[in-house]
Amino acid sequence: MAMKPKLLVTRRLPPAVTERLQGDYDAIVNPDDHIMTPDEIVAKAQGHDALLVTPADKINAALIERLPATVKMIATFSVGYEHIDLEACKQRKLPVSNTPDVLTAATADITLLLMLGAARRAYEGERAVREANWKSWSTTYMLGVHVTGKRLGIFGMGRIGQAVAKRARAFDMAVHYSNRRRLPHDLEEGAIFHKDPEDLLAHSDFFSINAPASAETQRWLNAERIAKLPNGAVVINTARGALVDDAALIAALKSGKLFAAGLDVYEGEPNLNPAYRELTNVFLLPHLGSATVETRNAMGFKALDNLDAFFAGQPLLDRVA
Ligand code: 8YV
Repeated sequence: MAMKPKLLVTRRLPPAVTERLQGDYDAIVNPDDHIMTPDEIVAKAQGHDALLVTPADKINAALIERLPATVKMIATFSVGYEHIDLEACKQRKLPVSNTPDVLTAATADITLLLMLGAARRAYEGERAVREANWKSWSTTYMLGVHVTGKRLGIFGMGRIGQAVAKRARAFDMAVHYSNRRRLPHDLEEGAIFHKDPEDLLAHSDFFSINAPASAETQRWLNAERIAKLPNGAVVINTARGALVDDAALIAALKSGKLFAAGLDVYEGEPNLNPAYRELTNVFLLPHLGSATVETRNAMGFKALDNLDAFFAGQPLLDRVA
């Protein structure tokens, strides 16, 4: 029988995914789910053929250089790949795969949850009920802002941005967007394109960040740009914390320039800027965008499909480097 490829899996994966990979690979897994240091990854990778990593692992050029020559491929359990230095991988001829498509719906769903939660003050309301601080129904109690019929600005109209737009249409929202490229007419479905993302801001009663983290988008939403949003706008981020200047967002939430924000991702997560925790007009989730059983299984299977293709000598299904 042919030897199974040796796989280093840096984090604990869902049980169904672990079962499949243990059948097909000679794998080191991480049952206690600790975050491996670069030294540990390098040590455990000795004699291994591939790595299955997550965004919690910083696969930078220094680490890539130290990987043993036996390592021939990296699969990431994520659609985002900003944690991997793709240039360094290309130089080493180390192919890299990600997990697009399968998490689009779950991430778009949670974007709507954050929009509604932030606009309708779900955190404050839930807390009032739970802490027995709800005294009486009143015509002016805990009023939020209306979602239906508002303008939604989507920054980054890729797969997830388009899925957010589709859901927003069910709320009769007018969809505006910016993207590196304008979508073909049939995919726009009436969404209004803003070539210059700066122009999107003034049209965004709700501003949803759905673009990947890159040098270009680093802290894109800063004080100057927040100032261009309509007064009382709501900011939603289900992409990456790195796209937001936290100090500027916090200042705008405190001053009332923004009505609220709904955030699933944070710069430096899980160590987010502690000022967020003090604000009642932010609806905060701990990076749950893709966190459904179905989606996480599908992400794991997609990562394994890519590894299987590689070891069968086939082209990767989702190659990013
Ligand atoms: C995951 C994500 O929670 O895929 C991504 O890029 O941000 C999330 O869907 C995370 O990657 C889990 O590994």
